Amino acid sequence: MANVSMTVNGRSVSGQCEDRMLLVQFIRENLGLTGTHVGCDTSQCGACVVHVDGKAVKSCTMLAAQADGSDVTTIEGLASGGELHPVQAAFREHHGLQCGFCTPGMIMSAVDMISRHGGQLDEKTVRAELEGNICRCTGYHNIVKAVLDAASKMGDGAKVAAE
Ligand code: FES
Ligand code: FES
Repeated sequence: MANVSMTVNGRSVSGQCEDRMLLVQFIRENLGLTGTHVGCDTSQCGACVVHVDGKAVKSCTMLAAQADGSDVTTIEGLASGGELHPVQAAFREHHGLQCGFCTPGMIMSAVDMISRHGGQLDEKTVRAELEGNICRCTGYHNIVKAVLDAASKMGDGAKVAAE
């Protein structure tokens, strides 16, 4: 068994888990944060993307023990003060979701992308960087529109403070 302590959505959590427990399992099963989805469990679909120390990570590719001491943000941690995060708001405005299964991972990847590119993000980059996020409803057109709109609204200031 491994002892694990981390900050999740600004809250300190700690506990024991099996050495082989994946970060996504720890988040969903131990913490009850089921907004992070599991689509494949094999690093293919991107439904499980969370932020670890500010960077997008497929949480099915990382052990919970490897995240010991990290600062983790899940989809539940994006909205603040009752307001949706600008990327969440853009997905809603542009109908960037259908069944919603891929949406948490898409949004976490998009927030990371905007934190690196700010308002300079262009369509080609969005499409290339979302390659690791699969939408089985194939709503890519509106997803890309939502990410570009959020990037332009958040601007270059988002480069240092996307969350
Ligand atoms: Fe992690 Fe699909 S569940 S990439
Ligand atoms: Fe259904 Fe993307 S909205 S999988």
